[in-house]
Amino acid sequence: MLVSHIALKNWRNFPSAEVSLGERAFLVGPNACGKSNFLDVFRFLRDIVKAGGGLQKSLQDRGGLSKVRCLAARKDPDVAIAVSLLESEKDGIAPTWKYEIGIKQDRRGLQQPYLSYERVWKNNVLLLDRPNEDDKKDRLRLSQTHLEQINANEKFRDIANFFKSALYLHLVPQLLRYPTAFLGTAMPEDPFGRNFLERIATTPERTRRARLKKIEKALQKLVPQFKELLDTKDDHGIPHLEAVYEHWRARGARQREDQFSDGTLRLIGLFWSLLEGKFLLLLEEPELSLHTSIVKKLASILQRLQSPEKRQVILSTHSTDLLSDKGIGGEEVLLLKPTKEGTQIHKMSDIEEARVLLEGGSSIADIILPYTEPPSIDQMEFFK
Ligand SMILES: Nc1ncnc2c1ncn2[C@@H]1O[C@H](COP(=O)(O)OP(=O)(O)OP(=O)(O)O)[C@@H](O)[C@H]1O
Ligand SMILES: [Mg+2]
Repeated sequence: MLVSHIALKNWRNFPSAEVSLGERAFLVGPNACGKSNFLDVFRFLRDIVKAGGGLQKSLQDRGGLSKVRCLAARKDPDVAIAVSLLESEKDGIAPTWKYEIGIKQDRRGLQQPYLSYERVWKNNVLLLDRPNEDDKKDRLRLSQTHLEQINANEKFRDIANFFKSALYLHLVPQLLRYPTAFLGTAMPEDPFGRNFLERIATTPERTRRARLKKIEKALQKLVPQFKELLDTKDDHGIPHLEAVYEHWRARGARQREDQFSDGTLRLIGLFWSLLEGKFLLLLEEPELSLHTSIVKKLASILQRLQSPEKRQVILSTHSTDLLSDKGIGGEEVLLLKPTKEGTQIHKMSDIEEARVLLEGGSSIADIILPYTEPPSIDQMEFFK
């Protein structure tokens, strides 16, 4: 299943935006244009349905509805999200599912945010349409979605499960390496990879070995002298990864993950995550710490590693190297353009002059800069 279309109203710096999506999407734009905010919509939907989550908790975790609602919005309008889901791309254009919610909070009256509407369609048949009679009798019911309630989402549990399995990654090598060295409890979502070794260790052995073998094969091509990737446990039962390199003494010279390079750790984290699930994967700047030559091939490595089954991948990037892959189509690149009225989303293929250049054989990387650089960058010299 994949997200085939999304429409946002008053979500953070998107007063009104909508875009269709395929198996891959590359979010590009200057700093603070809203790439992470865009990814956050899918994390928000996941937070609504996950265990211990729910609409109220997801909003509280983000500082309340007033933080999520677009600052450019006038008065107190709904924050609205509408998502279409396709069972698989082969099923054609018609979305199999559509889910939409509007969220409101009055200045007076109910103090907590509530649903102004919640609707679900399956194959264009309306399955849920709230507020319904029960909601009108008991307004407090509107403080929860039906999506988050097992006894109310029976007919559309597939979409609840889909949102629940979305994975967001912003891997930080130091946290992968020293998971216990940083204060604070690990976030259950674990975007930075703190629980990563644990996740590997608790995967059933056959699956774990098969995935590590795939990753090992990829690393042999990408990291010089890399030979073997093994998973072990130390005397205290704590899981570790070990690597064997070609050039070392024939026996005994193994390295644990705390000695792996930043790039090696990020590649392992990235690859494992690709293989770990079936559905949506949200990546923040996967290019970080990686050598240019790898970044240039990253888009196709991500594609090939996960065949035959593919996760839908939506990633943010600042890397023109990553976008230099000619396999990336203009319709896969979402340009986030900040304006005075908030950020707009454009597909590169919808911009006339960009499309002409792409059709003429240029790569996205060749043409992207004028669309993504901050407009006043040339005035930096005045700050000397
Ligand atoms: N409710 C809101 N209304 C308007 N703008 C908001 C709201 N919430 C956050 N923002 C703005 O969104 C911007 C941050 O967006 P985001 O973190 O998504 O940027 P980004 O494109 O990921 O940037 P970077 O490339 O630096 O990671 C900030 O400028 C912040 O002020
Ligand atoms: Mg960001």
